[in-house]
Amino acid sequence: MKILFVCTGNTCRSCMAEAIFNHECSIEGASAESCGVYAIRNSKASINTVMTLMNEIDVNIAGREAVQLTRDHLEEAAYVLAMTSGIKKMLAESFPEFSGKIFTVSEFAGVDGEITDPYGGDMSVYRDTFVQLKRCTRNIMEKLKREMKKDDGGTVMRIALGSDHAGFELKSEVIRHLEKGEYELRDFGTCVPDSVDYPDYAAAVANEVAAGNFDLGILICGTGIGISIAANKIGGIRCALCGDTFSAHSCREHNDANILALGSRVTGPGLALDIVDTFLAAKFAGGRHQNRVDKITKLEGK
Ligand code: RB5
Repeated sequence: MKILFVCTGNTCRSCMAEAIFNHECSIEGASAESCGVYAIRNSKASINTVMTLMNEIDVNIAGREAVQLTRDHLEEAAYVLAMTSGIKKMLAESFPEFSGKIFTVSEFAGVDGEITDPYGGDMSVYRDTFVQLKRCTRNIMEKLKREMKKDDGGTVMRIALGSDHAGFELKSEVIRHLEKGEYELRDFGTCVPDSVDYPDYAAAVANEVAAGNFDLGILICGTGIGISIAANKIGGIRCALCGDTFSAHSCREHNDANILALGSRVTGPGLALDIVDTFLAAKFAGGRHQNRVDKITKLEGK
């Protein structure tokens, strides 16, 4: 699998990303190349790029010549990762047939912002770019590993998410966080901040989880109360509203909760993400708890 990093001149950012990726890559058969949309003939990797790579990862690319992007580069790459959204746009407009595999580095890595051009800056500016790229490269490799695992038929936890307008921002944060892990995510809305009714989103997620289309669900409204009450009306759903991590693992271990509810106006984002991680990592303990959960299920028939 070939990953193609693209910047403007291929003397700083993209060749730095290529070197980091190839140096750190632990994925069999995967490697990176880089090129520029306006590479100047015979230009070499900038001295500060060379020095930064030597200092940080002991890789020497001195004398490496800039490569001009061609259609073949795009054709051969599994993913084309542009340093900025401007470059991504230019590539997608010039080669619409490849637009499905063109992303910005940050977007593909699931981090905010763009990779800033260190050209003309001193060593500390180059080091900042290196740090940015290293972080992105790590995420990119994790993402590729997950994809390959999926292709091999490995199982990935499927999570359905939903919220009303009050939970919409926290839900976006939860999704950004989970995108860094090994999960298959589906957002059942709402996707805009306009006022909506939480039972509609509770039902959408709860029905999918109850049908077995997703392993677990996450629902968010202002307090987490309305959306959890609604979800618990669906047969087979055990939705637990949690505001602390103890409840988050206990509701999985003891109650086999299959949906986590959060209150965005009650629980701050830092704690909410810890609660989500705890909930997803915990396992149902079974044993005496199974008997109790069976009794809950029997109540559904009444
Ligand atoms: C919406 O204002 C709010 O009522 C809702 O998000 C939730 O808190 C309901 O329980």
